[in-house]
Amino acid sequence: MTQKHQLDPRDIIARSEGPSYQELLDREPVPAPDSLRDDTVPYLGSGNLSFDRYLSRDFHEREVQKLWPKTWLMVCRESQLPNAGDYFSYEITRYNILVVRSPSGALRGFHNSCRHRGRTLKRGSGNATELRCPYHSFAWDLDGAFKGAPCMWDFKHIDSADFGLPEVKVDTWGGWVFINMDLDATPLLEHMGIVPEHFARWEIEQRYVSLHVEKVIACNWKAGSEAFIESYHAIQTHPQILVYSGIDNSQYDVWGDNVSRTITTMGVVNPSHTSVYSEQDCIDTILGSSALIGNTDEKQEIEQGRSARERIAEISYDDFNKQWGRDIRGEATHSEVMDSILYLVFPNFMPWGGYLPTLTYRHRPNGDDHESCIMDIYILTHFPEGSPRPADAPTVRLAIDEPFSKATEMGEALGRIFDQDGANLPQVQRGMKASKTGEAVLANYQEIRIRHFHQTIDKYLDA
Ligand code: FES
Ligand SMILES: [Fe+2]
Repeated sequence: MTQKHQLDPRDIIARSEGPSYQELLDREPVPAPDSLRDDTVPYLGSGNLSFDRYLSRDFHEREVQKLWPKTWLMVCRESQLPNAGDYFSYEITRYNILVVRSPSGALRGFHNSCRHRGRTLKRGSGNATELRCPYHSFAWDLDGAFKGAPCMWDFKHIDSADFGLPEVKVDTWGGWVFINMDLDATPLLEHMGIVPEHFARWEIEQRYVSLHVEKVIACNWKAGSEAFIESYHAIQTHPQILVYSGIDNSQYDVWGDNVSRTITTMGVVNPSHTSVYSEQDCIDTILGSSALIGNTDEKQEIEQGRSARERIAEISYDDFNKQWGRDIRGEATHSEVMDSILYLVFPNFMPWGGYLPTLTYRHRPNGDDHESCIMDIYILTHFPEGSPRPADAPTVRLAIDEPFSKATEMGEALGRIFDQDGANLPQVQRGMKASKTGEAVLANYQEIRIRHFHQTIDKYLDA
């Protein structure tokens, strides 16, 4: 990225009129945690971003060689592998990693390729007592040690002790399973920086998957990711949410190389729309439409001197107390029961924070195709400690031509929002190809996470 304009770093955090996120926190009855009070971004430059990064096969090849096998990748929920012998095959471009629950209870990860003549050992997910290749029956135990093959007299040149399945690193955080193919990689928790500390109060491991949608989108995986790391596009793309969302005053943060965050407030009228919508419009719209925020069928009149945000928080506490099995009113801020607090852990793990049922997104290339990606949308819902873990929702798979709203499980409002994003993305991919200048121009503040994301990609590709 070339840098063309020098700016004073103090000019970077520039927002619209109206209360900032930090000012809304000041009005809260419950003190906000330090994690939400952090409001600093470095100046990362103002240079343009080449569209080659999304379009060229060469760039994709560099990612295949230098990014995907060198970083921490979210695979699935740990609840998908509860028992010894459970396995899950995770594919990323040409790589295929088999994550297995071993008899000791540990999770192991292996390259999912037979050491005889290369057949994939397992497809999808399931349970097995050993890893036996369906082609000629070479077999490994669940810890990857070689067990044998038919006619071993013909393989005198194999040293069985040295014929285990090649391993990858496996670790877990918040009930998520991650792998890293680089055996020298820094530990997962180090890679995640401030995230484990910020999320401790939101108990991500104490949640079940109440929704999982997986959809193919006709754009590069980075273009897909970028539609979810800025809220700036909502002004044009999601106009229906401006009545209840403070888009213009979203807060953006970056930490180190791997972590960034957007906080977009809910339960407030967008600062540049306060002459169009009232607080009553705000509460009337949001309560009828969000699948995440606490809900009620009754119309809520806002009392004199009170805000829609306060009333929505009260309703949300009542709703979420059941999910938490305790009264969270004294500990959870209004922000944490309604706002969109969306983190990115490089390269593609995007968990929401908060006490509400939280979304998590992930974008990865669709197989080895750099012009399409698979987007995952999870909703994680808390359940009370000590009560049985509810079963995870089955995965709903949507093809490239099927809208998100076909997954009716996500509700009308969310389906509509994702369809609006889904309508942009293939046209972003096409428009990049049609570009005369060949590059994107990024906002200094509201798109700083995109710049940060690409700077980290470059660190991997240039390593
Ligand atoms: S390829 Fe696996 S046993 Fe032959
Ligand atoms: Fe969007």
